[in-house]
Amino acid sequence: MALQSNKFQPRGGAMAAGTPPLLVVLALWGVVALFGVVWVAAWLAALVTPGEVGSFGARWVLWLVTGDTGQAWPGTPTLLVVLFTAVMGGGLGYLGYRGFLLVRARLGSEGDPVTALNVGNSDVAELARPEAAEKAVRLRKHSLRGSQGASLDNRDVGLTLGDMKLPHGRTGKRLFASWEDTVLAYMAPRAGKTTALAIPYVVDAPGPALATSNKGDVWAATAKLREERTGERVWLFDPQSITHQGQQFWWNPLRNVKTVEDAYRLASHFVLTIDDEDSKKDMWGPAAKALISQLMLAAALGDEPMERVAEWLHDAKQPRPIEILFDHGFIAYAEALRETQNIVSETRDGIYTTARTAARCLDDPEIMLWVNPPEDGEMDEFDPREFVRSKQTLHLLSKSRSAAAPLIAAMTDAIFIAGEEASEGMGGRLDPPLVAVLDEAANICKIADLPDLYSHLGSRGIVPVTILQSYRQGVRVWTENGMEAMWSAATVKLFGAGLDDHKIVEALAKLIGQHDVSTTSFSYGDGKGNHSVQLRRQEIMEGADIRRIGKGEALLFATAAQATLLKMCPWYTGRDAERIGTAITEAEKSVTENAQRRYARTDNP
Ligand SMILES: Nc1ncnc2c1ncn2[C@@H]1O[C@H](COP(=O)(O)OP(=O)(O)OP(=O)(O)O)[C@@H](O)[C@H]1O
Ligand SMILES: [Mg+2]
Repeated sequence: MALQSNKFQPRGGAMAAGTPPLLVVLALWGVVALFGVVWVAAWLAALVTPGEVGSFGARWVLWLVTGDTGQAWPGTPTLLVVLFTAVMGGGLGYLGYRGFLLVRARLGSEGDPVTALNVGNSDVAELARPEAAEKAVRLRKHSLRGSQGASLDNRDVGLTLGDMKLPHGRTGKRLFASWEDTVLAYMAPRAGKTTALAIPYVVDAPGPALATSNKGDVWAATAKLREERTGERVWLFDPQSITHQGQQFWWNPLRNVKTVEDAYRLASHFVLTIDDEDSKKDMWGPAAKALISQLMLAAALGDEPMERVAEWLHDAKQPRPIEILFDHGFIAYAEALRETQNIVSETRDGIYTTARTAARCLDDPEIMLWVNPPEDGEMDEFDPREFVRSKQTLHLLSKSRSAAAPLIAAMTDAIFIAGEEASEGMGGRLDPPLVAVLDEAANICKIADLPDLYSHLGSRGIVPVTILQSYRQGVRVWTENGMEAMWSAATVKLFGAGLDDHKIVEALAKLIGQHDVSTTSFSYGDGKGNHSVQLRRQEIMEGADIRRIGKGEALLFATAAQATLLKMCPWYTGRDAERIGTAITEAEKSVTENAQRRYARTDNP
């Protein structure tokens, strides 16, 4: 309470109580200043002519108001005095007007959320220059060695969150997420996820960057620029041909699976894709996950490709994976698999059917081309370990809720694992840091233990930016407990336009806090006027205000800081706008041409 009463005093309250007497005093001084201006103008005119001017005082004012210019400025041309008065008056009037605007903007208006949250908000100072730049130098000891905070480019300081909104439509300091932050953003469709977060973050990432998306827009906007800027490879993982660019590489999800834990972690991404309402997930989910992990571990140890896992999933009597697990000393795991295969048929069928549903991408030949070794052996293999030590870019594309989604999650997670390993060899922190923009995370990047990862990725130099359409959407994937964990572990939370869940909106209103708002009343009685001011406590932003956050704007919650309202910085207002615009046009042209060619081939085989 002490915090609230100190910080959120009504602005301009003192002014309101003493307004009438203050105005009278100001008006009197204004008149004196006016005469002063005329006297200074007469003095200047007397300087440039052979005339004189009387000394300033009551007598001089009397000469002036009675029009006795012969006494007020003897020998000085009155026309010149008028001219000088006009010039000085105009100049001073202009300066006064600018000053008034400045003071008005600084004070804001009482009851206005922008005024209450942003004016004088020193909590977010460490997210702005110069503190943010100093922090960047401290966190990136290797890649910014020898740099001074003041001379850092914005893109090295951190990920741009937005500019602080100020009263009357102005904006203030630019705020950045640091290289040890973990970002969680909630935004509805068309709220600015791609234009203000994904595209600028990928373009400006100082090291490796990955972005998941259900459209080709982030790839289209950033691929060319990233290639030119980093001089390194831009990978496009697009098993559903969203961009029609063809396949240029493959990735082996089993390459680094060596332990039960590795296999279990990989299998968990697949199980999470079973329809959330599906009762099979609760009943058979854990056993299906165990089965997939046993088969994947067997395939990895036996140097078999991913397609073998699909074959084994369709043959519940297959002895080969059990043999491999035995051969490599995973006795308990082999026994468990044998037990599953020999269980009563209804149970076994339930487990195998659920596992096949979870891993249905393995049955899709188009998708499998991306994770099976190429038949002619000509194609490059993507290596997460090399990626995290580079400045490469990876775009992971999948249609929402599609079969390919588990592979997007698995590949992202493989990069996180590689990033953590690499950070151990760099003094605990990946440098330059890895930026991972997980757009549409709840549909296409359901990394099972993302909530846990949030608690330590930031300290490893891996900055995840998970973008969800709503809190509920996250709960459906990671459960209430998971989302609570992710909420607590995210050091930067952004809420954009389109928040409609009344529970969340009310919870946010409470977290933002309250302030005192004054109401002034005048009454007349017993022959005299009475002016009184009452204070009323109210929420700084009510639920309805939060619902009305505009497109391109966001509410920021940073650790231990007062909530702040931001105007986000979309790419088309930034310095790379022209180049990104051209890149989008060129990429769209290529997508259209390739799509037309492909459909022409399909129509005329
Ligand atoms: N070059 C541009 N100039 C001006 N406005 C633009 C430009 N590109 C996009 N916009 C607008 O910016 C807004 C945000 O678009 P954006 O693609 O970032 O939304 P999104 O949150 O990613 O939505 P979705 O869920 O559809 O992916 C939209 O209203 C869009 O029309
Ligand atoms: Mg988008």
